[in-house]
Amino acid sequence: MPIAQFDGALAVVTGAGSGFGRATTLALAERGATVVAADIDLESAERTVVLAKALGASGAAYQVDVADAGAMESFAAQVRSVHRVPDIVVNNAGIAVAGPFLDTGLQDWERIVGVNLWGVIHGSRLFGRQMVERVGSLPTKPDRPNKGGHIVNIASAAGFTPSRELPAYCTTKAAVVMLSECLRAELAASRIGVTAVCPGFASTNIARNATYVGVSEREQARLRERGQRALQLRRYPPEKVAERIVEAIVKNKPLVPVNFESHLLHAISRVSPASLRLLARIPAPLR
Ligand SMILES: NC(=O)c1ccc[n+]([C@@H]2O[C@H](COP(=O)([O-])OP(=O)(O)OC[C@H]3O[C@@H](n4cnc5c(N)ncnc54)[C@H](O)[C@@H]3O)[C@@H](O)[C@H]2O)c1
Repeated sequence: MPIAQFDGALAVVTGAGSGFGRATTLALAERGATVVAADIDLESAERTVVLAKALGASGAAYQVDVADAGAMESFAAQVRSVHRVPDIVVNNAGIAVAGPFLDTGLQDWERIVGVNLWGVIHGSRLFGRQMVERVGSLPTKPDRPNKGGHIVNIASAAGFTPSRELPAYCTTKAAVVMLSECLRAELAASRIGVTAVCPGFASTNIARNATYVGVSEREQARLRERGQRALQLRRYPPEKVAERIVEAIVKNKPLVPVNFESHLLHAISRVSPASLRLLARIPAPLR
């Protein structure tokens, strides 16, 4: 199966009903993949599959909460029995919690760690195991280094950029970066590639659904609206992120900063972490 072309490949994408998830599902569908679009919001995933079918691809939509271990087990088993072992898994579903650490309650932490970190752990563990088992039965072809499959974990520039405004979000994304590096090392022998994708700001719905801690409901609604407007003004469409994800799979890249600010922050995090520590102290202008 030529994974570089995605022809005949099976791709699973979580959070496929919106933003990067939808754009990535469609980018893979356009290149010949059969797509499994999973989202906690079934209708939005179904809409993505309709769009994929309009591109000539096959696909199916599933409702799954990536934070729910049992639901993810059933989902992975269902994908294997209804379709087969996937060739590409994009652990993309994610949410944002913004506001100071001391205002971030236990439930806020449980929610964001559940979706952003446990969601990636479940997806990587369950589908990674399936891929490894399948590799055992495949003939070796050294010219196809990631023939065993590819796992893409959507982290963020927040994964290497500390911020007093986004402690919970940054923490989960840093964990996703490290998880991806460790997993990449482990799965290399099975010819399974792992990539952490780290976008900067992009124009999706993430701010609209964000939780702002330590403020009233009214203020939260205002901050969501402002955040949403700011992301739209950034004018970085999810389709561009999807193109970088596709490229990362084809080239089997380990870590992929996406867009200008992410590249810049990544470079600063390596050459001058002290500068990022200073930046981290600045309160967000959107507050
Ligand atoms: N938009 C940005 O600026 C930006 C930047 C860096 C990283 N990211 C990351 O990109 C990923 C995608 O976010 P987006 O910006 O496309 O946001 P989005 O809100 O447009 O899309 C997220 C999708 O995930 C789904 N989802 C949420 N919780 C879920 C759960 N528990 N189980 C299954 N599906 C769930 C939502 O229903 C939605 O369809 C996230 O991991 C996010 O942290 C976004």
